[in-house]
Amino acid sequence: MAPERLTRSSTMPSTYRFPEGFLWGAATSAYQIEGSPLADGAGPSIWQRFAHTPGMMHDGDTGDVACDHYNRWREDVALMAELGLQAYRFSISWSRILPEGRGRVNRAGLAFYERLVDALLERQIMPVATLYHWDLPAALDDMGGWLNRDVAHWFADYATVMYEALGDRVPMWATLNEPWVVAHAGYVEGTLAPGHRNLYEAPIVAHNLLRAHGAGVQAYRASAKQQIGLVVNLEPKYSASQDERDLRATQHADAYMNRQYLDPAMLGAYPGEMREIFGAAWPDFPAEDLALIRQPLDWVGVNYYTRSVNAYSAKRWPVQARPVRQKHATYTETNWEVYPRGLSETLEWVTKRYGRVPLYVTENGAAFFDPPTPIDGAVDDPNRVEYYRRHIRAVHDALRAGADMRGYFAWSLLDNLEWSLGFAKRFGIVHVDFESLGRTVKRSGRFYAEIIRTNGGAL
Ligand code: BGC
Repeated sequence: MAPERLTRSSTMPSTYRFPEGFLWGAATSAYQIEGSPLADGAGPSIWQRFAHTPGMMHDGDTGDVACDHYNRWREDVALMAELGLQAYRFSISWSRILPEGRGRVNRAGLAFYERLVDALLERQIMPVATLYHWDLPAALDDMGGWLNRDVAHWFADYATVMYEALGDRVPMWATLNEPWVVAHAGYVEGTLAPGHRNLYEAPIVAHNLLRAHGAGVQAYRASAKQQIGLVVNLEPKYSASQDERDLRATQHADAYMNRQYLDPAMLGAYPGEMREIFGAAWPDFPAEDLALIRQPLDWVGVNYYTRSVNAYSAKRWPVQARPVRQKHATYTETNWEVYPRGLSETLEWVTKRYGRVPLYVTENGAAFFDPPTPIDGAVDDPNRVEYYRRHIRAVHDALRAGADMRGYFAWSLLDNLEWSLGFAKRFGIVHVDFESLGRTVKRSGRFYAEIIRTNGGAL
């Protein structure tokens, strides 16, 4: 069915209709919600180590308890059903499955995800599994982690264990979540695990992430036969001025974040700018690696939060661009500009550059302040409601412009551990009281449930 828009006005709610079969879901990740990171024989991950390193986490927060989803998964699946979610995107903790990262399989860890998937299926919620959402087994990090070329095979072996266990029940898989963040925040900025700051490591890590992705897709074709894709975070880059240096910095920022991963995965080559950006730190990668990286994908997932406007800054690295704050714009609690038009532009850009591939918005959402404890049993979050309204409209705009949009996932189902920002930044459509661990559906959750019920409806 062709997407239909009945009426449209930017300020008043209008009626939107999404195509039949459009998938509405919500997303989370293992370390951010599960807690009990070492339970039932699991091995430590790099996040376990990072979070327990003094000074790395806001307020010393850790994922030791997080949302206690490891014990409360039944209640959480019931909440998903109450919201009418059609799909749930979660990630699997590699070191629960393979405590040493490779070799011995920990059946008890596997059983957790088997129970979760069965409970989702019982409620007719489609499980969408991400194999890697940033929590590399610490044992592999001890062998170099993403710097070691063997990581591609370690990943494919782990993926095969998962495909064999759940391939019949999980129809949609993602290899990696946001490889750019893994390489940039983990190996350039050092703000996320494993906390390195090394220009020479970043391209190698990025390349090995992509090789792991390719090997993971190949392994999928050999052992399971539904759908597999890659999830990237994209952020349209605008130049702050027409000044030559600003324009060039913006082009570099775009290559670094938006094309460094999708170009090799979809087109089989790195953007030409990579060498200019990294200089001597950019190695020559063998052609056969690029052949491994470029695997046919069933879908691409786009995580979208914001845009950036860039000006040249000699002090920044590896890209000499600094973000310029916009006057008259709304910023979220993570200091990200609310810019819904960037989402339609991004989805249209992917379609134009890489062809009409099936697309999902695999994450979209915002941190705004919510009280730590609900007031009179309720959480009223009008800013988040407005964020969702405007971004879901933007997805519809992309559909009308010809993007092959298949679904949308809110980030996040639950308030959770926002990595090194700890529990202070709340992204949930369901509030979590981190004292009592009680869950309360926010107004945004009810709003989203109504969108799902009406397949668009009054936006
Ligand atoms: C990540 C999530 C994170 C969210 C908000 C994405 O980069 O995939 O894990 O919580 O953005 O920062």
